Amino acid sequence: MNKLETIEQVRKYVGEARKAGRRIGFVPTMGALHEGHRSLMRAARAACDEVIVSIFVNPTQFGPGEDFERYPRPLEADLAACREEGVGAAFCPSVAEMYPPDSVTTVTVSRLTEGLCGAHRPGHFNGVTTVVTKLFNIVQPDVAFFGQKDAQQAAVIRRMVRDLCMPVEIVVCPTVREPDGLAISSRNSYLSAGERAQALSLSAALRWAEAQVRAGQRDVESLVREMRRQIDAAGPCGIDYIEIVDADDLRPKAVVEGRCLIALAVRIGNTRLIDNMVVEG
Ligand code: PAJ
Repeated sequence: MNKLETIEQVRKYVGEARKAGRRIGFVPTMGALHEGHRSLMRAARAACDEVIVSIFVNPTQFGPGEDFERYPRPLEADLAACREEGVGAAFCPSVAEMYPPDSVTTVTVSRLTEGLCGAHRPGHFNGVTTVVTKLFNIVQPDVAFFGQKDAQQAAVIRRMVRDLCMPVEIVVCPTVREPDGLAISSRNSYLSAGERAQALSLSAALRWAEAQVRAGQRDVESLVREMRRQIDAAGPCGIDYIEIVDADDLRPKAVVEGRCLIALAVRIGNTRLIDNMVVEG
């Protein structure tokens, strides 16, 4: 497993792989690698000849007062995880390597970034789309793998790639959960035992809503009202949003019809958690 720190090293590594006719899979991450990230690496391994992972805590997608400084950075364990999953190279650039001080160019996806998390984290998706564009230009993968856990991010990236004719295939892999239902996240490590127990209300409310839709409930307002009640009842928390939107274009729905995304973001203590489920109405 190769640890690469500069753009030039990546270009050389990828150039050789491409010359050898290898199909290149790419998994962008911010490190603190867990089973969710590993599932993406495995999907990439299965579909490609060469897997490249990036590990970069991207400062431009964190707002002021968010957790950029305290975001976990267990680099040695992350490199070991990459090695275990058969990754060919891990790209671990410095902030200076990714953002020369005179950078003035960003990538903006409008409309899809305005609702859900975009409404609560101004600038976040600009940071994501800009860094992902840069990473795509550096790695030039054939396929890139993202998690459904960050459903809005996946929809935004899909749209960006389509709108800007980027020559990369986007694959979105299912959310990996703990046995009790909690969606795995690098931020789960911030939770105290009590908060961890309370956090189960998120996936439980999503499962409840999914069962309701299966049973024929189509009214978004009553589904959201009851989910809010259940999550509030589990303990003190701040609900940023609970919404049901079109799964592809993220427009709010009044009635569950077609492929819909039930998405939520809830703050428990100092930790902001997101989760979602796709239902078919
Ligand atoms: P990060 O939060 O590290 O996530 C990297 C990838 O892992 C994302 O595509 C995310 O959706 C996926 N992922 C996280 N938890 C998952 C889970 N439980 N199941 C399945 N997939 C999961 O998302 C980012 O980093 C950044 O925004 C990034 C795209 C790297 C740009 O900086």
